[in-house]
Amino acid sequence: MEKTFLIYGGTVVTPRETIPANILIAGEKIQAILSPEDKPHADETFDATGLTILPGIIDAQVHFRDPGLTYKEDLETGSRAAAAGGVTSFLEMPNTKPATTTAQALADKKKRASEVSYVNYGFFIGATKDNLDVINSVPNVAGIKIFMGSSTGDLLVDTPEALEEIFKNGKRLIAVHAEDEAILKANKEKFRQATLHNHYAIRSPEAALTSTKLAVKLSQKYNRRLHILHLSSKEEVEFLSQNKPWQVTVEATPQHLLLSAPEIYDQKGTLAQMNPPIRTRDHRDALWQALEEGIIDMIATDHAPHTLEEKARPYGEAPSGMPGVETLLPVMLTEVAKGNATLDQIAMWLAERPAIVYSIENRGFLREGYFADLVIVDMNEKRTVKREQIYSRCGWSIWEGQELTGWPVLTMVNGGIVYHRGNFTLGSGKELTFRE
Ligand code: DOR
Repeated sequence: MEKTFLIYGGTVVTPRETIPANILIAGEKIQAILSPEDKPHADETFDATGLTILPGIIDAQVHFRDPGLTYKEDLETGSRAAAAGGVTSFLEMPNTKPATTTAQALADKKKRASEVSYVNYGFFIGATKDNLDVINSVPNVAGIKIFMGSSTGDLLVDTPEALEEIFKNGKRLIAVHAEDEAILKANKEKFRQATLHNHYAIRSPEAALTSTKLAVKLSQKYNRRLHILHLSSKEEVEFLSQNKPWQVTVEATPQHLLLSAPEIYDQKGTLAQMNPPIRTRDHRDALWQALEEGIIDMIATDHAPHTLEEKARPYGEAPSGMPGVETLLPVMLTEVAKGNATLDQIAMWLAERPAIVYSIENRGFLREGYFADLVIVDMNEKRTVKREQIYSRCGWSIWEGQELTGWPVLTMVNGGIVYHRGNFTLGSGKELTFRE
């Protein structure tokens, strides 16, 4: 007999409605979503009175730096931070050291994750100019990641010919970092004595738009599944509002949706530096509107930890990127508290759509027969983000000093509790299965 677990007394965000309900779990799966009066006997119970239960969050863009850069983060610390943040699955990027561009590097990552990950995991295979066979043959990946413009690490595919070859051959989803390398380079030349405040002019909307347009064009030409990562500009929104065929999906980060220039650079210096950059308010507002209209399908963090020491270097030497996996849900629940979003939207943008976009089997929804990946949150808990309380190895957050409303109390992965009020348990995370 499988072990049973009953979560009762809470409010449940189901795919159809947010309702008072009990959840009966048997083994790894949700057996039934029951009416509040229906309380069958179970081996274990959790009283969720006053709390809200959401599907486990899927952060579909993280950099956990393992192997090779583990002084910033590793699969254990990154996945622990994820668990604390209600993130039950992550998709990890290939710009590690070595980069995940070979079957062996991918197998090594999967093995390591199977040993140390608190939550479910999936990986991208990185495209180079000459690993076409690899990207199309390695088993069970979230997709093929292409850096069309250079960022952290040395992964780059920037010639139209090489890009065309990748789009032409194969069927797998292609996820792009869309910034045009030639424009980035030319802009860097123009701003020889650049300061941080030039960051978003160097990495211009034009660079982002040119690259996004090319990716969409190739996707259309070859009918190829394309996912555009971290959309950053109103120009791209405008373009996609007219040119978003069925096979194209789009993502934004909380940073791009909620922070804006120049204030964030004044306040946070190079901590706020990421690629593509945080831009002015008009871009931020256009992104939020695009999210509401469905031009942007989903939210992911681009969790990109660097140490405070590295970030303290002057502009030009400081690396781009900021962490975010553990604050994703509290940051977005704060938008619910402010009346800017609904719980349904949070479930949709952070769990349901990522599962659909990446064809992740039997996850992303609180639904009978699906894996019991869920997060129980206290929608009323207010907490100010403090450096000492950050779980990510990098030890800082762009949200420090902000009071956030709505925090995870308990995180469950495959029916096992991995996080409960500051305590962690290893052993429940599994490799995600991607339908091809
Ligand atoms: O700011 C960024 N940091 N953008 C990326 O594309 C990569 C990331 C990282 O890995 O540090």
